[in-house]
Amino acid sequence: MKPFDPSAYRRILFFTGAGMSAESGVPTYRGKGGIWKEYDFEEFACQCAFERTPEKVLRFHELRRRSVLDCHPHDGHRVIASIPGAVVVTQNIDGMHQRAGSGEVIELHGSLWRLRCKQCRTITEDMGKEYQSLRCTSCGNWLRPDITWFGDMLDETVMQKAAEAISSCDLFISIGTSGTVWPAAGFPDLARKAGAFCIEINPEPSGSTRYNLVIRESAGSTLPRLFGTIDTAE
Ligand code: APR
Repeated sequence: MKPFDPSAYRRILFFTGAGMSAESGVPTYRGKGGIWKEYDFEEFACQCAFERTPEKVLRFHELRRRSVLDCHPHDGHRVIASIPGAVVVTQNIDGMHQRAGSGEVIELHGSLWRLRCKQCRTITEDMGKEYQSLRCTSCGNWLRPDITWFGDMLDETVMQKAAEAISSCDLFISIGTSGTVWPAAGFPDLARKAGAFCIEINPEPSGSTRYNLVIRESAGSTLPRLFGTIDTAE
């Protein structure tokens, strides 16, 4: 495969899903070892569950934070971060792109590292394995992970930002998503209609066939070959 020269493109956009972090050791959602194979989302990842058993849901998310902090970005994350001006639109909540040094990361499904208070409408950054507080310091309500659970609406401002970035890219690279969760599953189509050259990197077939180039390999080995190797950071 001939490497792509990033300087030949006006705007490169990486659209990533759980498979992007798989080689870092973060489990994917579906498929073998997937989070939704082991845990019932109705018990841990929806507003109803949170209202029934908030502490149980928060402890589950702490478990996820712990396991993510034990993982580290891989060469694929670092290659993306090394491309000047590259935009990342991710379904991932693990913050791995930011840890690798990516500047512009649009998080469609929120972040494991933020909590929000429904009552006060405040959002708190909260890094670390354990939450600093499970309750809002102003009103005492339970804090909720600032992520999109099953049944939640996506943040419209974030969606709009992602759609604009995708519509204006000329190289679109989808990595490690099963393409089953909408509206993100429609992004390859959007990019293709906008005239971008579209690449998919995924060892398994996904839902979309709207790609100019499909690479049935893993993210960690393919990205350095596609764009050249980089100096390692984290
Ligand atoms: N490199 C590239 N792709 C990989 C790798 C790898 N090393 N390993 C696995 N994959 C691919 C799988 O083949 C699969 O197609 O990653 C994909 C992971 O799919 P999902 O687990 O469905 O993850 P994702 O598409 O990100 O899920 C979307 O679903 O539950 C929600 O909110 C959650 O953001 C998530 C959304």
